[in-house]
Amino acid sequence: MSAAREHFGSRIGFILAAAGSAVGIGNLVSFPVAATKSGGGAFLLMYALFVFLICLPVMMAELALGRKSDKDPVGAYRQLSGGSKLWRIPGWMALITPFMIAVFYLVVTVWVLGYLVETLMGNLSNLTSKDHFDNFINSKSVFLYLIALMLIVNGVLSKGVRGGIERAAKTLMPLLFVMLLGLVAFVLTQENAIIGVKYYLIPDFSKLNTSMVSKAMAQAFFSLSLGMGIMITYGSYMKRQDSIPGSARSVAITDTLVAFTAGLLILPAIFHFNPEVKIKELEGGAGLIFNFLPKIFLSLQNTIGYGGASAIAAIFFFLVFVAALTSLVSIIEVPVATLRDERGMDRKKAIYTIAAIQFVLACACAMSSGMAGWLTSFVTIGGSEKSFFGLVELLFYDTILPLNGFLVCVFVIYKWKRANLDRELQEGDPAFAGSLSQRYVNFALGTFIPLILLLVFIITV
Ligand code: PFF
Repeated sequence: MSAAREHFGSRIGFILAAAGSAVGIGNLVSFPVAATKSGGGAFLLMYALFVFLICLPVMMAELALGRKSDKDPVGAYRQLSGGSKLWRIPGWMALITPFMIAVFYLVVTVWVLGYLVETLMGNLSNLTSKDHFDNFINSKSVFLYLIALMLIVNGVLSKGVRGGIERAAKTLMPLLFVMLLGLVAFVLTQENAIIGVKYYLIPDFSKLNTSMVSKAMAQAFFSLSLGMGIMITYGSYMKRQDSIPGSARSVAITDTLVAFTAGLLILPAIFHFNPEVKIKELEGGAGLIFNFLPKIFLSLQNTIGYGGASAIAAIFFFLVFVAALTSLVSIIEVPVATLRDERGMDRKKAIYTIAAIQFVLACACAMSSGMAGWLTSFVTIGGSEKSFFGLVELLFYDTILPLNGFLVCVFVIYKWKRANLDRELQEGDPAFAGSLSQRYVNFALGTFIPLILLLVFIITV
């Protein structure tokens, strides 16, 4: 059997680790572009409402499930449902989902690492050539970077909850905040930066429609690392005397502030580079990081020289890398915890087992951008061909999270029962008992939150 369960050493340690999970590539690149394209300030307002009124109660519920059961997601559902066969399904979904997202996210992080190393080696100008991204992702070096990345992530995990996850978060998160603020301060002093700020902040309510609202909701849910079993697992490492509602609030605020601040970096940078850029043509995600931003960084050489431009680019890629790393640590901890709790494996053995399977799958994902034909045209869905990478992205990254969230709500309120949730949320936070927040969380989780999540799932499918 595994040794006694480890816990986070301090409340701030937990908050930084959970915020490290929540702050990821999504915050830094997808959020700012989605916000600008979908009504600027109007999107920001709606997003904030979603985070605090819908996602925050779900985060509390996930943390409560973990802390009460002291288990991984599979064990949490099993134990708190009294061994029900039916409720095993969401437990397994809360294991498979993070497992597959991690595979996908490993590959994207490898690309970030590759761009970081290239920049540090003085090759920023190469990154801007037309086919560089395609050539890079299809080169053998991807495998070396994957090995390096997995050594780093699993190295952190092997040190355990306190000495690994918490310690890494306590070092890396402050560094992340400093890098982000430093880059924002720099970018805001550049010419035309203010045009970007205006597009980002000025509300345009006419842009809001059902699909945008649904996307904002999905983005908020994803951004807080919900529906991935992570918060259940991290909840199981929380001390009983710590406040779940208070800690969850701090995590949500940090995550949202970072996403918001990232907009003050990305949009001014885009508009400094090209003040005429068409909002509709803006690309978020990979297109932005690997194609557009390197060009922007290189253009800075006219004002701060090639060395200066390379330094700014390196800080940016390092920022994204750190954000991705702390997210990866949290998501890979889920299957590791499951093997420990469910199979009684020790931490090292669990890490090796998961790493071996994920390495094979991540290689398959990496090879599905062209290296291996059958993985590149893996399946045809709705008439369009999908690679293995595309399939994992579609199923796990884009679709399943709100469904997992729906199941959390229904489980907590109707199977585990309201009174148990109340009790767990009050533990470590006596002031929560009978408060307006408690009544809201209790009511919302049993009524409109699951409905909204189900609706978002249906719209996305
Ligand atoms: N909130 C994270 C992000 O914005 O990137 C979500 C996440 C993704 C967490 C992948 C963990 C992960 F491995």
